[in-house]
Amino acid sequence: MTQEDIRQVINAVQALDAKTAKEVEEARVRFLGKKGIITMLFEEFRNIPPEDKKLYGKELNMLKQQAVAKINELKSIAETNFACEVSIEDLSLPGFEYELGSRHPVSIVRQEIIDIFRKFGYDVAEGPEIDDDYHVFGALNFPPNHPARDMQDTFFVSTGHPNPLLLRTHTSSIQVRTMESRKPPIRVICPGRVFRNEAISARAHCIFHQVEGLYIDKGVSFADLKQSILLFAREMFGDDTKIRMRPSYFPFTEPSSEVDVSCNICHGKGCNVCKGTGWLEILGCGMVDPNVLEVNDIDPNVYSGFAFGMGIERIAMLKWQVNDLRHYFENDLRFLEEFNTAVEV
Ligand code: DAH
Repeated sequence: MTQEDIRQVINAVQALDAKTAKEVEEARVRFLGKKGIITMLFEEFRNIPPEDKKLYGKELNMLKQQAVAKINELKSIAETNFACEVSIEDLSLPGFEYELGSRHPVSIVRQEIIDIFRKFGYDVAEGPEIDDDYHVFGALNFPPNHPARDMQDTFFVSTGHPNPLLLRTHTSSIQVRTMESRKPPIRVICPGRVFRNEAISARAHCIFHQVEGLYIDKGVSFADLKQSILLFAREMFGDDTKIRMRPSYFPFTEPSSEVDVSCNICHGKGCNVCKGTGWLEILGCGMVDPNVLEVNDIDPNVYSGFAFGMGIERIAMLKWQVNDLRHYFENDLRFLEEFNTAVEV
């Protein structure tokens, strides 16, 4: 074997042309098979005098690498050609089936809530998922030692600071950011993802979604709040839906209330979904506490307002009678496909 022999084989490899998978395989056997040209050169390598071995070894290895790369390239071209030939060979063959995706049920309900409040004149506002203690708690009238700031509920990003960063536990923080950047009248709806340090179960998750609402103007009253929630509930759950308000407590509203809707399954008669009560809780709300207005530079002697907050998964569970919150996070297609028909095209 001379260097010239090797060079000739290199040229032959570079000039290789094979169109079909069969031709490619033949070329492979011719060059790299057990009795192939390159394999034989390696056999001859044994007889090369030791002082030339280094030079010949390097060239042979390069040749082999080039041949393997060339064969692989021809092989993939042949496979692509084959696929093209097959697909145009018979145009009457049935096409490939594509699975159509659909919107996630949480996104569907989120959009529905936004659409309802848009009709009432609300804009959409957003805020950061990583926020600070001031915007999530402080400016919302949470006393410094309120349990909601406790490590058990909140995922802290940084501690040891007077205003630590944390994952927001509710979308009420967007109220604060809105009051900072706008002057009344304010009418916003704030959808977003929230995080709580809770064990995952059928009724609780560490990540879920909320929609917050805020309306501030001169002369806003509790009656306005009640009417807005009633209209929302009827749009969401049906015209015959009734609501009831129960007194409650939130640091940022005074008075505060929790709202139930009449059970959309038994229509108030009592069933296992409403645990025999005929009512289902949908949201928390109240009149914005004057302290919150003041902290955010809005004069409580001139303006008043109401706020409300609801869990999107909770509304979706009630709307579609889903009894386990975890379904919304597991991406099981059998569950998600049930909502295909709910997509507006
Ligand atoms: N932020 C409350 C929560 O996460 C929900 C809420 C209750 C929001 C009452 C409000 C409200 O705006 O007025 O549980």
